[in-house]
Amino acid sequence: MHKVKVFPSLLAADFSRIEEEIKKVESAGADAIHLDVMDNKYVSNTSFPIEKIKSFREKISVPLDIHLMIEKPENSIDGFLEFNPSFLSFHAETCSDVNKLIQKIKSHNCKVGLAVNTKIPVSSVFSFIHLIDFVLIMTVEAGFGGQKFMQENVEKIKELSQLRKQKNLFFEIEVDGGINTENSKELISAGVSMIVSGTTIFKSASVKETIRKLRNY
Ligand code: DX5
Ligand code: ZN
Repeated sequence: MHKVKVFPSLLAADFSRIEEEIKKVESAGADAIHLDVMDNKYVSNTSFPIEKIKSFREKISVPLDIHLMIEKPENSIDGFLEFNPSFLSFHAETCSDVNKLIQKIKSHNCKVGLAVNTKIPVSSVFSFIHLIDFVLIMTVEAGFGGQKFMQENVEKIKELSQLRKQKNLFFEIEVDGGINTENSKELISAGVSMIVSGTTIFKSASVKETIRKLRNY
């Protein structure tokens, strides 16, 4: 069993006081900071281009979890790897040589994940499952924070857990989108050990209490 970890998604932070926001979630027990990268192509939104990340990377002391929602991640991967992320995921359908990119990320001593958007079947990652460290299951359509949790994606988590057991594999399952203190319990029981949460964490009155509840101890 993997330890359950909570990764606040910086997309929901107040950028006018980013340093304070980072410190707030770190001191409340965040296990890593989740950073969404969007290119206005794969998803119709833009976030955290390389230059922007450079402006606050050194303020982050916990591990960094980068989620690439961009076309052809292989073209800009070097720039993201320079930030020394501990976790990095991308969507398989955006990349022409998934195997090659997995190997490149791994060679930087970074855990690699494949992200599964809501309309993509979970079976799309099966052929890479023995190569990756985690699968990121989207529970909202990739692109925006603050959307409603899509329950139907929980089946994908259950399927992955079963596969993990059957094949005796050790990959982790990350979940991202619409996670709150009510639905996190079911997700953990289904096999999730990496919980991404933006709005719930950054908009809560007590971040420490919220992170504790999300972990569900
Ligand atoms: C959506 C992003 C998420 C987002 C989650 O495309 O991948 O990481 O920030 O935000 P909430 O928790 O508000 O749904
Ligand atoms: Zn994300």
